[in-house]
Amino acid sequence: MSRKAAKPKPRAKAEVPPGEITATGPGKVILLGEHAVVYGQPALAGALSWGVTARAVPARRCELVVPRDLPAPGRKLLERAFHRAAAAAGAPKVKVQLEGELPVSMGLGSSAAVGVACARVLLRAAGRRDDPRSVVRIALLMESEFHGTPSGVDHTTSATGELIAYRRRDGAELGSARVVRSPHPLKVLVALVGRRSGTREMVSALRHRIDRWPVRYGRLLEEIGTLASEGARAVEEGDLEALGDAMNVNQGLLCAMQLSSPAIEEMVQRLRHLGALGAKLTGAGGAGGAVVALFLEPEPLVARLRRAGLACFSSQLAGPAAL
Ligand code: MEV
Repeated sequence: MSRKAAKPKPRAKAEVPPGEITATGPGKVILLGEHAVVYGQPALAGALSWGVTARAVPARRCELVVPRDLPAPGRKLLERAFHRAAAAAGAPKVKVQLEGELPVSMGLGSSAAVGVACARVLLRAAGRRDDPRSVVRIALLMESEFHGTPSGVDHTTSATGELIAYRRRDGAELGSARVVRSPHPLKVLVALVGRRSGTREMVSALRHRIDRWPVRYGRLLEEIGTLASEGARAVEEGDLEALGDAMNVNQGLLCAMQLSSPAIEEMVQRLRHLGALGAKLTGAGGAGGAVVALFLEPEPLVARLRRAGLACFSSQLAGPAAL
């Protein structure tokens, strides 16, 4: 998988070998509520139109073709995670290959997309049901190898492929998700601002501060949860200005919790000046990563910014599809 934001090319029909099964896992953006979702607050997240594709062909045993450009520790981790998922899916005798153009390690849910694509293809190859709950359950087994104990928001968004209001449930394996419908097209511009810090590190640094100042941070987490609920309602009511404002306030709180950086803040300001209704970091944050900005029509701006050398793309997260 590459970090550049270019459109994936569809494979020619003639190339599909007999018996091949394919499955995809889309990437995600969190519009409201990252980090607070780990502590049981609601979050609003949507699936991107880009993701990861897993292709499985019949083989002597269940195996993964690990991408060559992955450094050694990452290869081992991915292999271990895949075998955990494969065992849970019934270890069908297939060789699985991954491909995709979703930028990796940028806060866009690339590891969840890998988990969802693998879980789907393995379940299908084993002749089992690949409904979102079964997919999330297996994808989360992979994720626990990558990032410890995630909230599940990335996986549930990828497996559902929709804009969802998500909430982790205490002690439960899977969180609750509700599809949030929008009467209008809900479009975002996603800009990449350099490599971000690891999710595990960011989550654990925040946990340290929460343990030390639980009352202060408890207030902030609760406020972020309230913004996520208000944002979901704003989407349903077609009030994109209210959604954008919630995103801006959420960014202020993420910054207060030391999850932002000068590079992210600069991009947030730039996109707001270019007319974004709201802009904020998306994902774990830290040194860099991705900024998500809400625009009514982001496409012309994406073309302009790309010509100026900025890595960015647009995606529709909800609402009626364009004709
Ligand atoms: C990462 O995409 C989102 C975080 O909230 C972590 C999680 O929910 O597991 C930072």
